[in-house]
Formats: sequence, C-alpha cells, structure tokens
Amino acid sequence: TIYDNPSVASVAVARRIADLIRSKQDRQETAVLGLATGVTPIRVYAELVRMHKEEGLSFKNVVTFNLDEYYPMNADAPQSYVTFMQDNLFKHIDIDPANVHIPDGTLPLEAIADFCLEYERKITSYGGLDLQILGIGRTGHIGFNEPGSAPNSGTRLVTLDDLTRSDAARDFGGKENVPTKAITMGIGTIFKAREIILMAWSQKKAPILKKAVEGEISGEVPATYLQLSDNVEFVVDQDAASEL
Ligand code: GLP
Repeated sequence: TIYDNPSVASVAVARRIADLIRSKQDRQETAVLGLATGVTPIRVYAELVRMHKEEGLSFKNVVTFNLDEYYPMNADAPQSYVTFMQDNLFKHIDIDPANVHIPDGTLPLEAIADFCLEYERKITSYGGLDLQILGIGRTGHIGFNEPGSAPNSGTRLVTLDDLTRSDAARDFGGKENVPTKAITMGIGTIFKAREIILMAWSQKKAPILKKAVEGEISGEVPATYLQLSDNVEFVVDQDAASEL
C-alpha cells in the first residue's frame, strides 16, 4: 500500500494496531504485538501514545516482543532498544512492564542460546504473535536478520553487516563504537506472526524496497522471504515506492 507520506501511513498502521487491541479487549483476550525499533516506526508509536492520551486506548491487555537488541548492550544506554522503546512508547502508556519483552543485551555469551529458546517459548505460550511490525535495513535485513539468514531461523545471536554498522554510526558517535553483534528474532519467528506489516519511508529505502518486493527470493536479501507469505503487507510512502 503506497501512501502520500510517512505521517498518513503511520496513522493508518497505528489504527490497525489500535483496532486489534480493542477487538481483543472486547473478547477479553491478549493482543500479542511484535515491535520494531529504528526511525521508521517512531510516528506509529507517537500516534499510539496520542490515542492512549486522547482516546483512552488502553494497553493493559497487550503483550509485546521486540525484534532485536544490540549485543552487548546495557539496558540503560542511550542506544539500547530498551531505552528506545521506553522513550517512544512504553513510558507514555499503561502497559504492564511484566508484559514487555526485549532481547537481553547484558547476558554472558554462554547464556544466550538458552535465553533465545526461552524467548521463542514465551511467544508461543501467549499463542504467538498477532501482528509483527517491521522496518527494513539497507542490507535487506528484517530485525537484524542480515544477508545469509536462513528462512527457518529462530531467535539467535548474529553478526551485524558492515553497512548496518555504518548506518548506526551516527547513534554511537562513530562506527567503531557500534556493537558487532545483536540478538534478533529469526525469519522463522517473524513468519509465524498471523499478520506482518513492513514499513519503509524515503528515497533512501527505494533500492532495497524494490529488491524486497520484486527481486528474486534469496537469503542475500532476507526481506525477499516475505514474498512467500500471504500475511504480509508492505506499507510505504511515495519516495520509498519510487523504484517499484
Ligand atoms: C535497525 C533495526 C531494524 C530496523 C532497521 C531500519 O537496524 N534493527 O529493525 O528496521 O535497522 O532502521 P530505520 O527504521 O532507522 O531505517
């Protein structure tokens, strides 16, 4: 779906999320959301905060699982995805902190494999993800599933691509400070979501969006795997869509 600009697109995505939350509330069920970080979803979160404050949208029945976190990363570091989610969403709404899940960037290396299995198990224990929100990196990554990721991959520790670390350099005051690794949900984890929305804005994303939507399905551009799913919608602005 191509929108005129990121603002109207973001409002539309936020409405979809709010509708899901409200319909689950009506049935006294839990809404299980897969959330993303980066610049792309910021306006979606801002709109959800507005809906909470002005329309009384409650998040009491919402459980969230974030896609990824840098490794190693302290939760209270300004660049952590914990800080990002707190600042952009969680501290402004009425979600129960016990319902928020973000991969733990502070674990010792030897504890990561068990943590990742437990992350998958927890998602399953809530009945799976109702809706997964995604951005896209210029390598074609979703979450931090860089080129070479397998379609059935689960939550795991990965090595970040050089281009991904360059794109993150501004947040870390130089590429040399960007962690070389991350913990990410896998392509297989994302695929199990009942609905997936990938968002992309701006000219900068146009070449990779073209590959993701129209390119050959390949692990070289992990987002191309989404072509295999019936439950995916690409929500983009005119600029990101300019090469389609
Ligand atoms: C980051 C995140 C991804 C995100 C992507 C794009 O590295 N791990 O989940 O989709 O890069 O970021 P942005 O939205 O800032 O362009």
